[in-house]
Amino acid sequence: MTLQATDIIVHLGKTRVLHGIDYVAAPGAVSCIVGPNGSGKTTLLRALTGEVGYDGRVTLGGTDIKGAPPWALAERRGVLPQATALAFPFNVIEVVRLGLPYPKDAPLARHALARVGLAGYETRFYQELSGGEKQRVQLARVLAQIREPVGPEGPRWLFLDEPVSALDIAHQLQVMQIARDFADAGGGVVAVMHDLNLTAMFADAVHVLEGGRVLAEGPPGQVMTDAVLSRAYGCVLRVGAAPPAGVPFVLPHVAAEAAE
Ligand SMILES: Nc1ncnc2c1ncn2[C@@H]1O[C@H](COP(=O)(O)OP(=O)(O)O)[C@@H](O)[C@H]1O
Ligand SMILES: [Mg+2]
Repeated sequence: MTLQATDIIVHLGKTRVLHGIDYVAAPGAVSCIVGPNGSGKTTLLRALTGEVGYDGRVTLGGTDIKGAPPWALAERRGVLPQATALAFPFNVIEVVRLGLPYPKDAPLARHALARVGLAGYETRFYQELSGGEKQRVQLARVLAQIREPVGPEGPRWLFLDEPVSALDIAHQLQVMQIARDFADAGGGVVAVMHDLNLTAMFADAVHVLEGGRVLAEGPPGQVMTDAVLSRAYGCVLRVGAAPPAGVPFVLPHVAAEAAE
């Protein structure tokens, strides 16, 4: 049940945003997409989920997603968008249950809230939550929708666009661990990430985008180098190895002021 995209080209307005991207992700792995602002990460994720029109082909387990009925896709993959603005004064449990068809699924929604550390938030108003709490409610919604990492039809997928961008470090780790556990249990995870250190810690595979193209891809230890990251982000970045396992970590390099 591999996710495979071939020669993906996307135009938004008159601009060509993706220039023929090949992308493969395997179930059982956390695959991260990184790159600077505007490099096409969100657009690639939206092409992989069929939310934006594209030229090329995206298949999930060999099935072209363009032919798949929406209900079948909703069963196989959940999508956490980069930012969700809800116009209605829903309470939290109603937001989590948005993707669920039956009232009897309420325990599932409560369980998903507990997984993101928001047990007891059921009747709070969504609009009165902090940005980070909203982000975790949205993740709970996706987890409730997708139910389990592997269903009768095979592995299921989480597509997460900057899932930890508004979170403190403890909740960043909690959310990345949820992604890790989902993959370890056989599901697939594709996550757009800004934090390079969390990416190095949790990713099995990394794609670095630059200007709508894949600049580099592979395991973090291979892809996350001074040269690749400095080029992609347009600033000097130094990659070190954190003991004991040698996980890469990334620090910006700022030139020291010349001594007088
Ligand atoms: N509706 C649109 N019309 C024209 N250009 C767009 C539109 N939406 C996004 N873009 C452009 O597409 C590029 C990629 O955007 P995006 O995929 O959101 O980048 P990222 O998620 O990597 O920050 C950006 O240069 C952005 O300005
Ligand atoms: Mg984006």
